[in-house]
Amino acid sequence: MLSNIFAFFLKISPGLKRAVWKKLYQYLAKKYPTAEWTYMNYGYEPNDQVAPIPLKAEEERDRYMIQLYHHVATAVDLTDKVVVEVGSGRGGGSSYIKRYLNPKTMTGIDYALNAIAFSNKQHSVTGLTFIHGDAENLPLPNASVDAVVNIESSHCYGSMKKFVGQVHRVLRPGGYFLFADLRPSEAIDELDTTFRAAGFQVLKKELISKEVVNAMEAIHEYKVAFFQSRVKGWLKKPLNNFLGVKGSNIHKLLDNGEMVYYHYVLQK
Ligand SMILES: C[S@@+](CC[C@H](N)C(=O)[O-])C[C@H]1O[C@@H](n2cnc3c(N)ncnc32)[C@H](O)[C@@H]1O
Repeated sequence: MLSNIFAFFLKISPGLKRAVWKKLYQYLAKKYPTAEWTYMNYGYEPNDQVAPIPLKAEEERDRYMIQLYHHVATAVDLTDKVVVEVGSGRGGGSSYIKRYLNPKTMTGIDYALNAIAFSNKQHSVTGLTFIHGDAENLPLPNASVDAVVNIESSHCYGSMKKFVGQVHRVLRPGGYFLFADLRPSEAIDELDTTFRAAGFQVLKKELISKEVVNAMEAIHEYKVAFFQSRVKGWLKKPLNNFLGVKGSNIHKLLDNGEMVYYHYVLQK
C-alpha cells in the first residue's frame, strides 16, 4: 500500500526506500499478529455486473482483496503448476491461490521475516509454504518456476530492473509473470521498457485503476472500523492514507489519473 508519503519515496535513494518499507512491514507483522488481517492490497471490484466469485462465508470480509488476486492469477491456468508469489505479505493471497486455483505447489516469498513467521503460522495448507527472501535476489534455482505472481509489492523495491531480471531467471521458458501494481502515470513507459529489456513478451497490459478505486470505496467503512479500533498511537493518523480509504491522497490520485494501477500478463 502507498500513502501520501509516496512523493517522499520518489525523492530518496532506492536503498533507503527499500529499508523504510522493510521496517514498516516488519513492524506491522510483529505489532499486529491479528489473525483476521491476511491481505494488504487495495482490492478490485469490476465495473460491470459479473457473477461474484464464490467464497467461504468467513472470507467475505476480504472479498475485494481476494478479487484482485483472482483477477490477476486467473489470467492463465495455474492448475498443477509450480507457482511463486513475491511479496506475499500476510499470506492470504498465496493461500487463496493454493486453495482455489489448484497449483501443484505455492510458495510465498517476502523480505519481512515477521510476515513469513505470521504466514506459516496462519495458513496451514498442504503444498503451501512461505520462505524469507528478497525480490531482488530470489532464493530459487534458475528455470524452476511456472508462474510468478506479484501484487502491490514492486513499488517498495530498490531496483525494478533487478527484480524483473530475477523473475526471468527463475521462470521456465514459456513461464508466466502475473504482475499488478501502481505507479505515477509518467512511470509506465519505463516499466514497459524494463519488462521488454529483460526478455518478456507482453501478452496483456490492462489499466485497472477504476476497478481498484471501486474497491477502495466499497471497502471504506469496513477498513475504518477494523483498523481504527485496533491501531493505537502514532499510526492512527497516517493509517487512513496507508489503507487508501475514501478521501485519502492515494484514493484521489488513482481517481484523477495521476497514479495508475496496471495489471500485466508477461511470458518468458
Ligand atoms: C502492500 S504489501 C502486499 C502484500 C500482498 N501481496 C497482498 O496483496 O496482500 C507489500 C509486500 O511486499 C513486501 N516486500 C517489499 N519489498 C520486498 C522485497 N524487496 N522482497 C520481498 N518482499 C518485499 C512487503 O514486506 C509487503 O509484505
